[in-house]
Amino acid sequence: MSEAVQTSSSFTPRVFSGIQPSGGLTLGNYLGAMKRFVDTQETGVQSIYCMVDLHAITVWQDPENLRRATRELCAGYIASGLDPKKSILFNQSQVPEHTQLAWIFNCVARMGWMQRMTQWKDKAGKNSQNASLGLFAYPALMAADILVYHATHVPVGEDQKQHVELTRDIAAKFNHDYGVDFFPMAEPVIEGAATRVMSLRDGTKKMSKSDPSDASRINLTDDADTIAKKIRKAKTDPEALPSEAKGLEDRAEARNLVNIYAALSEQSVDAVLADVGGKQFSEFKPMLAELAVEKLAPISTEMSRLMQEPAEIDKILADGAERARAIAAPILKETYRIVGMVG
Ligand code: AMP
Ligand code: TRP
Repeated sequence: MSEAVQTSSSFTPRVFSGIQPSGGLTLGNYLGAMKRFVDTQETGVQSIYCMVDLHAITVWQDPENLRRATRELCAGYIASGLDPKKSILFNQSQVPEHTQLAWIFNCVARMGWMQRMTQWKDKAGKNSQNASLGLFAYPALMAADILVYHATHVPVGEDQKQHVELTRDIAAKFNHDYGVDFFPMAEPVIEGAATRVMSLRDGTKKMSKSDPSDASRINLTDDADTIAKKIRKAKTDPEALPSEAKGLEDRAEARNLVNIYAALSEQSVDAVLADVGGKQFSEFKPMLAELAVEKLAPISTEMSRLMQEPAEIDKILADGAERARAIAAPILKETYRIVGMVG
């Protein structure tokens, strides 16, 4: 075994996560992922954050939009507080070791495992025969993203938990089949009040960039007026807010707004309710709007500033790819050796 590569009994903590550059960023991405990446960065653990452009093309992407969305995502990461000197920021396609390891994992993962993935079932829908082969294999590439760095922790939103569990299954089967202790069992890290931010129009649906209704989400590029208007119009029920979390059961929309408030103000749901319990939404919504504007408007301003400097962004990505590659290459090389590739 090469010296640069560790075995799983001695893995140094390392964080990896990714976001698809497939269109605008939402408050869901910010609270469920980006804000938590920033918190992790501040703990000092080595952190690698990727723009997963190869995942994005598992469904059709217009090339010009993909280029723009990749740079915008990088701008969003930085505007949210990620420091490209502290964390490694890069786009997936520039580190070929991801796809090289993904091929090996395609040969480890089983069809049945992939078929059980709820995201595959949702995205492929009834017309799965017409979905791309890449969409089906998507979780094996995701496992490669994580394991090509021997990452131990993966901060994600609730919807990605199943994919990280599959990553563990792939690591375990690889280790078992080849009689090694080579890949770590990466842990999903799903914490905080906003691991699943819901649509502002329907509290049973995830807030998503692909929802046809723009009023259902807050985009990180929305200006202050738009943010305030969307919150004012958010669906709620006619009752006052409860003073304990239990009172939010069966009140999906109310719960969502309180969760958003808690995550943005970095308080627990209980602490928020101790404060606002008994208030009507007519009073709570302006509070939430003010908080959201205070936290999000600077991000949006900084993103637009960075978007004026695409060459600067491209330099950050190229530098990140080089640093990422320096970690991934020896791990891939060792994987090839374990598998029996001559070279
Ligand atoms: P995606 O935009 O689907 O590539 O997701 C990127 C990251 O954002 C993943 O960690 C997701 O789990 C997270 N995420 C996306 N939408 C939401 C949401 N509505 N609530 C919480 N996390 C989300
Ligand atoms: N599948 C993730 C999503 O859609 C994005 C992703 C790709 C990812 N590779 C990853 C997340 C590796 C964490 C780790 O949100």
